[in-house]
Amino acid sequence: MKVFVTGKLSQKAFDALSQFAEVDAYEADDPMGRADVEARLEGKDALVCILGDQVDAALFKLRPQLKLVANVAVGYNNINVADANQAGVLITNTPGVLDNATADLAFGLLLAAARRIVEGDRFVRQGLWTGWKRELMLGAELNGKTLGIVGMGRIGKAVAKRARAFGLNIIYTRDGDDKKTDDILKETFAATRVELHDLCRRSDFISVHCPLKKETHHLLGKAEFDLMQPHCVLVNSSRGAVIDEKALIDALEKKKIGSCGLDVFEQEPAVPKRLIALDNVVLVPHIGSATRETRAAMDELAVQGLIEAFSGQLPANAVNPESWEKFSAKLKTPASK
Ligand code: DGY
Repeated sequence: MKVFVTGKLSQKAFDALSQFAEVDAYEADDPMGRADVEARLEGKDALVCILGDQVDAALFKLRPQLKLVANVAVGYNNINVADANQAGVLITNTPGVLDNATADLAFGLLLAAARRIVEGDRFVRQGLWTGWKRELMLGAELNGKTLGIVGMGRIGKAVAKRARAFGLNIIYTRDGDDKKTDDILKETFAATRVELHDLCRRSDFISVHCPLKKETHHLLGKAEFDLMQPHCVLVNSSRGAVIDEKALIDALEKKKIGSCGLDVFEQEPAVPKRLIALDNVVLVPHIGSATRETRAAMDELAVQGLIEAFSGQLPANAVNPESWEKFSAKLKTPASK
C-alpha cells in the first residue's frame, strides 16, 4: 500500500510506517498547498496530514482510491467527516497523548496574562525599568479564585489538575449529561458543573478546551464577554473560531475583560493588527502540543492507527467508526486511479 505524509514524522513513526507501506513524505516544515497535496495523493491509499490540510468531498472525488486519513492532531475540524463517511474513508486523530503538553501551555498563558510576564519582559528589554516600585505591573493572584473551564474533556481535566495545585476553585461546562462523570469531577477536583453564562459571570479566569464544531463556532461572543468580570483573564488553546475574535478584541479594547492568552486564532496564521496592538494579550503561534515528546507520541499514534486499520482492526482512535464497513470493502477493491 502507498501512503502520502504532508509533514515530517518522528524517526520512530516514520520507520514503523516505512516497514508497513511505501511512503512518500513532504519533508519541509511549511504547510503544503492544496494543489500539491492533491497531486502527491495520486495512487495513495492513505494520507497522514496536519491540521492545516483541508480534507473534503472534492479531495475524495479526485482521489477515490484514498481509504484512510490520519490527522496528526486531536482536533479534526479541518476534515469534513460527513464527506468522509459518504466516501467510506476512515478518519483517525491523536487523542490523549497531547493533554499534558496542551494543559501546560494553557496554564503558561494563564500565568503570563495574569502576572503580565510578557509585558514585563518587553518593559525590561525596552530599558523602561527605573527601579522597584510598589505599584509596578500589579497582576492577579490565582490562589482562592475561580477558574471556568469551557469543555471538561481530557485536556480540560489536565488543566483542572494543574489548577488545583494553584489553589483555584473550578467550575466547568461540558457536553453530555451523565451525572456519574460530574460526580467524579466533583470528587477529583471539587469542580462544579454550571451553564456557560453562569461560568462567564463567575469566573476570574476562563480556559477554553472544547473542539470546534458547528455548535461551538463563536461559542464565546459579545453576549458572553458582556457577562464577564472586568478583571477576567481568558485563555484559548482549542481552536480560534470557538471565540468570536472581533468581539473579543472589542471586549479587550473596551476593558470589558482584563486580558487574554491566545494560542489559536480564527484565520491562522493571520493575527488581527488590533489584537497585536494590545498590551494586555499574550499571543503564541498554535504551539499547544509542541513539545518534542508529544509530537513524537502524536506521530506514533497516527501511524499505529493506520497500521491497525490496514491490518483489519478498527483503531481506537478512529473518529468515524461508522465508516469501517465501507473502508473494509474498499480495502478489497483494486486501486481505481
Ligand atoms: C491538536 O492536536 O488539535 C492541536 O491543536 C495541534 O497542536
